[in-house]
Amino acid sequence: MKTIQYKSDTAIFSSSEENIEPYDFIIEEAKLEHIHYINQICEETLSSAKARGTGISGRPPELLAKKMIEGEAVIAFTLKGKWAGFAFISSWENGKYVSNSGLIVAPEFRNTGLAKKIKRKIFELSRQKYPEAIIFSLTTGLAVMKMNHELGFEPVTYSELPNEDLFWENCKSCVNCPILLSKERKNCLCTAMLYDPKKINLHNLNL
Ligand SMILES: CC(C)(COP(=O)(O)OP(=O)(O)OC[C@H]1O[C@@H](n2cnc3c(N)ncnc32)[C@H](O)[C@@H]1OP(=O)(O)O)[C@@H](O)C(=O)NCCC(=O)NCCS
Repeated sequence: MKTIQYKSDTAIFSSSEENIEPYDFIIEEAKLEHIHYINQICEETLSSAKARGTGISGRPPELLAKKMIEGEAVIAFTLKGKWAGFAFISSWENGKYVSNSGLIVAPEFRNTGLAKKIKRKIFELSRQKYPEAIIFSLTTGLAVMKMNHELGFEPVTYSELPNEDLFWENCKSCVNCPILLSKERKNCLCTAMLYDPKKINLHNLNL
């Protein structure tokens, strides 16, 4: 059984499924006071990408700090303050697009439904801060594709993504960047998924 209690903008998420140790998570918009978690987030992001053998765009600590300070990130931790998960958003082309990126859950808390909660919260934050924006996500991971689909995202070609060079600069640190460049940014190993608020979508009714 899973229960969620909402306290202002903070969700306390309890997991007590069979065979899974019960955890209570606080999931909230990241702030200045969470900056001390950054090294752990960066290290886990890098080691998880290596373990998966997939590419990932760079997440320098300075970028994550900026996201936390500007209210463009969601963080999860246990009631005892142990870091459990993270994700952030970025806006492109003057707010026409918003990317949902950097989703990571600490290995010991995986498969408890935590990523799903973080993903929903980061999606809600995107909608709240940029209600008109097209929201998108680039991933090679099946878990993220499933979660995006549940939120109403649909797969698209790269032609539907921002054209802004600054956005694509982020791919430079990914091992697959030579593939992206050889395809003139028209394709790569990541699947692009997009949520367009202007298109009526039945998924919205479940939010
Ligand atoms: C991907 C990741 C965030 C999932 O976190 P999690 O907390 O274990 O995910 P959840 O328990 O919330 O599961 C969400 C859904 O994804 C599915 N899922 C989780 N891990 C999966 C995997 N490795 N392969 C396929 N599906 C997976 C779950 O079954 C669930 O689907 P369901 O609702 O249909 O049952 C986590 O494994 C992680 O941090 N991985 C390393 C970083 C990464 O790959 N980030 C994504 C970059 S785009």
